Amino acid sequence: MTAYPALRAGEDDDAAGFIALIGACWAEYPGNILDVDGENPELRALATYYAKAGGALWAVEQNGAVAGMLATKPIGETVWELCKVYTAPALRGTGMAQRMIEAAETFARDHGGTAMKLWSDTRFDRAHRFYEKQSYIRAGALRVLNDLSRSIEFVYAKPLTGTVIQRLDAAAVHAAIPRLADILVACVNAGASVSYLPPLARDTATAFWTRSASAAAMDKRVVLAGWVEGTLAGTVTLDLDMPPNQPHRAEIGKLLVHPDARRRGLARLLMERLEAEARAAGRHLLVLDTREGDSAEPLYRSMGYTEAGRIPGFALSGEGTYDATLFFWKNLA
Ligand SMILES: CC(C)(COP(=O)(O)OP(=O)(O)OC[C@H]1O[C@@H](n2cnc3c(N)ncnc32)[C@H](O)[C@@H]1OP(=O)(O)O)[C@@H](O)C(=O)NCCC(=O)NCCS
Repeated sequence: MTAYPALRAGEDDDAAGFIALIGACWAEYPGNILDVDGENPELRALATYYAKAGGALWAVEQNGAVAGMLATKPIGETVWELCKVYTAPALRGTGMAQRMIEAAETFARDHGGTAMKLWSDTRFDRAHRFYEKQSYIRAGALRVLNDLSRSIEFVYAKPLTGTVIQRLDAAAVHAAIPRLADILVACVNAGASVSYLPPLARDTATAFWTRSASAAAMDKRVVLAGWVEGTLAGTVTLDLDMPPNQPHRAEIGKLLVHPDARRRGLARLLMERLEAEARAAGRHLLVLDTREGDSAEPLYRSMGYTEAGRIPGFALSGEGTYDATLFFWKNLA
């Protein structure tokens, strides 16, 4: 019978199991060569290595064999690195990898970490989707290692603590698509009036954010993301693609906070940061609209947006009613 896998502290004595697991994971991607003594000698005593670095190591054991592992260590005053994340095929899709990452993130937080980074070989595409679902985004340039595997690595990162807003470049928007699609689907299915009708298909949400990544790449759209305690939970966009006679204007769209993260001030922080981004882009006249009576209406009014007018029956709701939309503007100058 297959025993339930157990997450426990990793030990130096797990070396053979760790090496076998990493070797098997690397062999899934052509061109990866594991040369333990030449390039990864720390694998011979990995618990000692991470303890000396001020970090920690975990192993997942199933039926007496190592089926999963990960480690974390500080790499800056409050920045930590997630390392050596590997699971055997039998553990994939069981939620264990998420538990492992949560253990490392909790350890980092408990030791003063405010952000987590990781480097992942560009070939490990399944791992990238996993990190992206855990709210990590691509952050920065590729890293080239002159190793036997000729590794080129993406860097992923996310804030671990507090409420943090970041502007996403095109690569970061691309990496954020799984979470941004989750948020759009959850908001629409909870009744939000933001262009789409429920039930919103995930592919449709993914297509919207894929177009946003292209628009961000062309400087036509600003995309902000907001994390609450390590979870990417909110977003807002600013469209800069205006006609030639409106170079001072921009349109706010898709202010979305996941239903699980509402009433914690995230939308207000997203809007404040968006106004700063608009100013920096030379746009001082901002325009937006919202369904009359929605939660966003008091937010916009409290931030000094002026109602320009109301169009009855403007947008169809999931209940089949045609609801009024309010149009607002704000001059930042
Ligand atoms: C509107 C929305 C973005 C607010 O997100 P949030 O993170 O919960 O908002 P905040 O916690 O920052 O609250 C900011 C202000 O919004 C208003 N607000 C938010 N939720 C509200 C609610 N349920 N009822 C009344 N006012 C509410 C309040 O004015 C609040 O300020 P306060 O906390 O000082 O009273 C979120 O409800 C959402 O995603 N809704 C669905 C999508 C949507 O309608 N977007 C707007 C498109 S125009």
